[in-house]
Amino acid sequence: MIYIVTEKCIRSKYMDCVTVCPVDCFYEGENMLVINPIECIGCGACVPVCKAHAIVKVREGDPGSDATIDEWAKINAEYANKWPNITQKGTPLPDADEHKDELGKKKYFSANPGKGD
Ligand code: SF4
Ligand code: F3S
Repeated sequence: MIYIVTEKCIRSKYMDCVTVCPVDCFYEGENMLVINPIECIGCGACVPVCKAHAIVKVREGDPGSDATIDEWAKINAEYANKWPNITQKGTPLPDADEHKDELGKKKYFSANPGKGD
């Protein structure tokens, strides 16, 4: 099993997840993070610290029948190779709490990279 970041991270990007990851496998986009599925060891430490409940477990190489999760698994794999690595918590986005529980955040997805460490 590995873990991926879903759309619930978008516009919140709290970054508590990066502080607990033992293998530093988070990568930073402009308004969300992704997990590199090759590097994640599936420890699950990042799940409870995410206030947006954005991180979910998937089966490696076979995300399953949920099309939405499958789509986000592909986005994690793709952008982990395009965005910079991030290992230290930065400042969450200014309207993070406002968007924390918002549904349908995929429309805000930005392919632009973040700053990384
Ligand atoms: Fe890192 Fe563990 Fe979360 Fe994978 S499950 S991203 S290894 S903290
Ligand atoms: Fe995103 Fe949650 Fe991490 S909102 S940046 S996955 S702590």
